[in-house]
Parts: sequence; C-alpha cells; structure tokens
Amino acid sequence: MKRNNYVVANWKMNGLTSFVKIFNAINKHLVSKKLNNPNVIVCPPYTLINTLVSSKKSKVMIGAQDTHELDSGAYTGCVSSEMINDLGAKYVIIGHSERRQLFGEDVELLSKKILSAHKHGLKVIFCIGELESEIKNRKSILMKQLKSLPKKLDHKKLIIAYEPVWAIGTGLTPTLLEIDSIHASIRDILKFNQSFAKNVSILYGGSVNAENANNILSLENVDGALVGGASLKPRDFSKIIDYFS
Ligand code: 13P
Repeated sequence: MKRNNYVVANWKMNGLTSFVKIFNAINKHLVSKKLNNPNVIVCPPYTLINTLVSSKKSKVMIGAQDTHELDSGAYTGCVSSEMINDLGAKYVIIGHSERRQLFGEDVELLSKKILSAHKHGLKVIFCIGELESEIKNRKSILMKQLKSLPKKLDHKKLIIAYEPVWAIGTGLTPTLLEIDSIHASIRDILKFNQSFAKNVSILYGGSVNAENANNILSLENVDGALVGGASLKPRDFSKIIDYFS
C-alpha cells in the first residue's frame, strides 16, 4: 500500500491576523495547480484557527500546534482537544521538541495528550528527534520517545515527524543517507509492537527549504515534510509542495 504524503506548516508563535494572506497564497497555489497530492496542513497559532478553517473553498487542512491532556477545567491559558475539534481543526502537533524542552513535556504526558486528541477526533502529528549531544544514542532516544504511542491504532490517525533538534532553525540537516536510514529504523522500531507501523507516514522536519526539499522528499522512506521557517514564505512553501506533483 502506498503511504500518504504530507507537507505540514508549523507556524509556531507567528501569526497576526495579517498572516491570513500567507494562507490564502498557499491555498491559491493548491487550487490553481489542481494538486491532490500531497496533503497540505497548516498549523497556525490557536488564535487563527477559526479564521483559517472558515476560509471558503480551501484545500488546505488546519491543525493546532499543541493540546492539553484534559478536556476542560481550571487550567488557565490551556486549550483542549475538544476545543480544537470544536473550532474545526482536524490535526494537532504533539511532542514538538520546543514543547519537550521549553515546557518539560515527557513521555507520559505526551501519551495522555495523544489519547485526548484521538478521543476528540483529531489526527496526531507526533514529533520525535534527538539533541545534538544525543546523536550517538539516537536509536535509544527515538525508541524511548516512541513509547508515548498507543500500541493499536488506525494508521490514518497518526503521522510521525522525525525532527532532529539540532537541525531545527539552524540550516543544518543530516545527510540524505542518514535521513533515509533513520526513517527506515523508526519504522523498524515501530514494527516490534505497533500494528500501524507498515502504513504510517513518516515526515522529515528540520531546516527543510525550497532548495533541499527536492532531495529530501524523493527519499524512499520519507513521506513528507514538517516545515517551520520556510512555511511562512508562500513561494518557498509552494515549491516544497510542488516536489510531490
Ligand atoms: P525549521 O523548518 O524552521 O527548521 O523548523 C522545523 C520545525 O520545528 C517544524 O516543526
């Protein structure tokens, strides 16, 4: 079975109301080229979800960048999966390294967040990746991070994004050979006990741009990209999308 391809924009904490223009440009590109592959997902800050979801004739799907593990309650400033779903977003990023590092999110918490997202019908884009100091122990780090995932799952509810932390926003990437073999080994790790291993899409993230996307996205074991900085430049992001067409 052919795995689904995705190009996902993670806008992080960037997204004034004027950023709707960026979204419209990306959408216009998809519509004008009549592209059905890849699936394109934009994950804006919470504050823009409603506006982007309401955008007419959109071919772009919308996701959130994080969720709380509980449904509701006295948790000032937090947003739950139920609320994200209520706004009409269909995806949520969980386990981004910025959440793990800056907010201390661990395997147990992330596991709860995944369950909560699935309970409320959101598809999860689950991020894993090693720090520069962990490169030598990469496999065991990835194995540990993957323990947040439930064992049984419809593969359509999950996308995995491999993002080496040292590659995020630095202009550095692993070599193509490394990316391909790391992706293959992620699938191997999952095959040990996760039923969805064969069909789940595994994206690469970390300094993907209009120049390197072609080579990265043509790797056999790479099913798409999770893009930060370049996703805020519609021309560059459109070029990345075009590598699939
Ligand atoms: P950059 O593409 O800016 O390196 O960011 C990657 C990322 O963190 C996407 O989630």
